[in-house]
Amino acid sequence: MCANTSQRRVAISASACLLSAVVAIANAATAQGTHPVSGRAIARVMGHEGADWLDRPERLEEEQPERALDAINIAPGAAVADVGAGTGYFTVRLSRRVGDKGRVYATDIQREMLARLDRRLKAENIGNVELVQGTEDDPALAPQSVDLVLMVDVYHELARPQQVLRRLRTALRSGGRLVLIEYRKEDPSVPIRLEHKMSVKEARQELEAEGFVLARQSDVLPRQHILIFQPMAAAR
Ligand SMILES: C[S@@+](CC[C@H](N)C(=O)[O-])C[C@H]1O[C@@H](n2cnc3c(N)ncnc32)[C@H](O)[C@@H]1O
Repeated sequence: MCANTSQRRVAISASACLLSAVVAIANAATAQGTHPVSGRAIARVMGHEGADWLDRPERLEEEQPERALDAINIAPGAAVADVGAGTGYFTVRLSRRVGDKGRVYATDIQREMLARLDRRLKAENIGNVELVQGTEDDPALAPQSVDLVLMVDVYHELARPQQVLRRLRTALRSGGRLVLIEYRKEDPSVPIRLEHKMSVKEARQELEAEGFVLARQSDVLPRQHILIFQPMAAAR
């Protein structure tokens, strides 16, 4: 397929072959498969070795976490799951929002992330957070246990998003919400690798296929979508 008769054609064809090989290698290094509904390349899980990046000072300006939580509107006393909690950047903020009468379930698949979060919770004397070790396809939340599931910069790297969404549907109480915060794929000026971004179209395609409906979208953040989904029956 890459051979041609004239020398010039051979040269062009060779560069095209080289380019497609480079692209294929780059994709193999960054993706862990494609989503069967949207065709989206699923990003690789961010390893715990890079955990310091999650607590970088610039993140306050780039992601404006308090503004994000204001837009979601979290009631004191609520039970909230921070799925893919990482180092707890959002967990500790959720803990303050739900207060003493509320509960935060911080889940992750990496033991090292949970260990680091455990140290943080102890250092900050936070008592309303429960750590939960999940697996690739199960966030390990009890049925009907939470009012809100929050995934910040996580959904795009779920290796088995369909299975996780099915479990999350079961974990949500009546009227519960599933919130995704994801870098905007529609905006090329957002300086994040493509497979770590999500478009609204992709998110809707994938979540609607699992029985969720987009109840509200907020774009108050400089770089990310806030997408608030509800199970279809609840949104009717
Ligand atoms: C980019 S980090 C974001 C961490 C945190 N949400 C934040 O905003 O700082 C993604 C996290 O999701 C976790 N993760 C990936 N797949 C997961 C899954 N299937 N279930 C739970 N956590 C997962 C990773 O281990 C990692 O800690």
